[in-house]
Amino acid sequence: MTARPVVYGASDRPPRGDYGRAQDDYTCAQNFAAYTEADHDTYHRLYQRQSTLLPGLASEAFIAALPLLGAKERIPRFDDVNERLYRATRWQLVAVPGLIPEVPFFTLLANRKFPVTDWIRTPAEFDYIVEPDVFHDLFGHVPLLFNPVFADYVQRYGEGGLKAARLGACEMLSRLYWYTIEFGLIREAGGLRAYGAGILSSSGELPYAVHSPAPRRLPLALERAMRTRYKIDSYQQTYFLIDSFEQLFQLTDQDFAPLYAQLRGLPEFAPGD
Ligand code: PHE
Ligand code: FE
Repeated sequence: MTARPVVYGASDRPPRGDYGRAQDDYTCAQNFAAYTEADHDTYHRLYQRQSTLLPGLASEAFIAALPLLGAKERIPRFDDVNERLYRATRWQLVAVPGLIPEVPFFTLLANRKFPVTDWIRTPAEFDYIVEPDVFHDLFGHVPLLFNPVFADYVQRYGEGGLKAARLGACEMLSRLYWYTIEFGLIREAGGLRAYGAGILSSSGELPYAVHSPAPRRLPLALERAMRTRYKIDSYQQTYFLIDSFEQLFQLTDQDFAPLYAQLRGLPEFAPGD
């Protein structure tokens, strides 16, 4: 088998990663030699802009763990991050050429391996990119993998994904990923904060998600989130709130098979309902 590119959602562009580099499990070596000084500079400038936005908008656990990614001036070597990450929660980063199909993705997560795209956006995409790049994947996702409860949630999600694949329920489960790991909000002592990677890696959506009166903010309920469609190319119109990572873990610590059966065939909610 050779690894094939994959796209989620509608797009006019083919995926840009070189899937010829990937092994059967879709992982590849981080192509560190390919980074130019301009690439490192893009990372530095993205990191700089985003890290100054975090206070008051990002969850405390995220802010506390961010320095564990290493120096902000250059794209880190994943192996370097791994020394700290593995010690903290037994997670590891693995490089991938871009988005990968559901089953290989779930398999990696179930094994506490987080796939990180190794290439970085062009300067023209500084403000917005649809496909995840190394900045989104590292800056957005990796800090919370240092949090033991969140780290366990992501592994459980991977196991649940393999089960959902057997049950033909990937679409329902992927909405839970979207509305928690990518776009989740959390109520903290200081107020509403973001913990979802798609928010945390976006300079526009971070203040929008926390403060704008435009989007709906609903307490996370599995049935509601799993029935809510989402847009991948605009700010979210609905966010789901949790009170703690423990709550998120407990809410999802049940057999989803009956839930999938119950939800199948029920009408969906539009992104902004
Ligand atoms: N409990 C879910 C199941 O039985 C698995 C899961 C755990 C899914 C955590 C998402 C998050 O399928
Ligand atoms: Fe992501």
